[in-house]
Amino acid sequence: MTTRPTPPLSRWQRLRRYLRACSFIEREVWDRPTRFSHWALAAMLVAALFTGWFDPSWQLDRHLLIGGMIAGLLLFRLVWGLFGSEFSRFTNFMPTSKALRADVASLLQDRLKLPTPGISPANGLISLMLWLILIALMFSGLMAYGGEEHLGPFASLVSFKAGETAQRIHAFLSLVLIALAGLHYWIVSRESRLTRIPLIRGMITGCKPLDPELPRDSERSAHAVWAMLLGMVLMFAIDHASKTLGQLPMDGWRPLHYPTIYQGRCGSCHWTIHPSLMPEERWRELLHHLGDHFGQRVSLTGQEAITISSFVLVHASEDWDTEAAHRFRKYADETVKGISDHPVWRKLHARMDPNLFATPPVNKPNNCPVCHHDALSGRFDRHAIHLPRPAGQLPTP
Ligand code: HEC
Ligand code: HEC
Repeated sequence: MTTRPTPPLSRWQRLRRYLRACSFIEREVWDRPTRFSHWALAAMLVAALFTGWFDPSWQLDRHLLIGGMIAGLLLFRLVWGLFGSEFSRFTNFMPTSKALRADVASLLQDRLKLPTPGISPANGLISLMLWLILIALMFSGLMAYGGEEHLGPFASLVSFKAGETAQRIHAFLSLVLIALAGLHYWIVSRESRLTRIPLIRGMITGCKPLDPELPRDSERSAHAVWAMLLGMVLMFAIDHASKTLGQLPMDGWRPLHYPTIYQGRCGSCHWTIHPSLMPEERWRELLHHLGDHFGQRVSLTGQEAITISSFVLVHASEDWDTEAAHRFRKYADETVKGISDHPVWRKLHARMDPNLFATPPVNKPNNCPVCHHDALSGRFDRHAIHLPRPAGQLPTP
């Protein structure tokens, strides 16, 4: 009988062997829910960073959807940190300062080190910081959304200015998140080298080497029922709170009723321009010069003039807390005649194809409602931006 040489392993077989179940000298340290939430969170964070930094602002919905999923995963992880199995619990992530110092020192040296049964002290601290940053990102994001767009649970609680600040904090925190995640990964790979244990595989299969000297009686097991109960209570509480908050009356925005005379006299040549798009002073000036209104002559009777001027002056931009009102409130100088000449308007639309504004169905830049479907409400929300297809271009299948 001759022994045939064993054929080399295929790539697939090597992968299977890498991801095999725990061997007899290993044990499952990371339970399935922990592994799942770890990788799902990692994937969602990459998606959130991409949509946050690179998506055009009118596709904010995608970023919000991912944010919602991250919130769900975080909630789950929070509950599992209290009721999960031993090594998933937060108490295991909080290092003593002595352990932390020793761990950091060992990471910086090139000597073999003993693995910790659960997370290493340094990475435990980083993980706690990552969760806190994520919670802060969640809040700052919702505050930015509430302040700038007047939508979401904080719509009525946060002013536009505070929303802008929240947005800046949100962006800054996302950079901190990247830095911390990088540090997390660096520690994992360093630790893998120094302990000779593939830790990334450990987070996929859950296995880490068994330490026979470690007493295991004190290890707590998971309490799935308690976790589920707490999770459900928290979910209902959050849902209820956000709905209640979202229904509070809003300070910075109100629905506007356009007087018939305004619609008839001013809405015949262009759309019924929302009064919040110009400050009071500019409206006054415009109404004084209706005899030469952008090259047109507009004449009003005394009664019409009174109705129209009181309507636009009462609802001028000073009286609103919306994004559009804030952006166009400060007029640059006298040469700025129309809203679309405003430097801020140009900046907001700088990334767009200029042809889109000059061709049907838009025809001119101040035809705001063609793209901003909520222009008549003065909100100019990102959700309501729908770019029209230029005339003559066939829909792509
Ligand atoms: C005869 C047609 C006509 C009428 C009636 C008219 N407008 Fe205009 N309006 C124009 C034109 C033309 C412009 C220049 C911008 C454009 O091409 O749309 C303009 C621009 C404006 C602008 C600047 C908007 C921007 O986007 O730059 C405001 C504000 C405005 N009109 C207010 C009014 C008000 C208020 C009334 C009613 C009292 C009124 N218009 C009636 C023709 C008209
Ligand atoms: C051809 C389509 C189009 C027209 C016409 C148009 N816009 Fe826009 N507008 C956009 C798009 C697209 C964006 C988002 C640009 C971006 O984020 O890069 C935008 C952004 C904005 C924003 C910021 C919204 C936010 O939440 O970030 C405001 C405010 C705004 N436009 C006001 C106006 C006003 C006022 C007019 C009319 C005078 C107008 N736009 C005309 C397409 C248009």
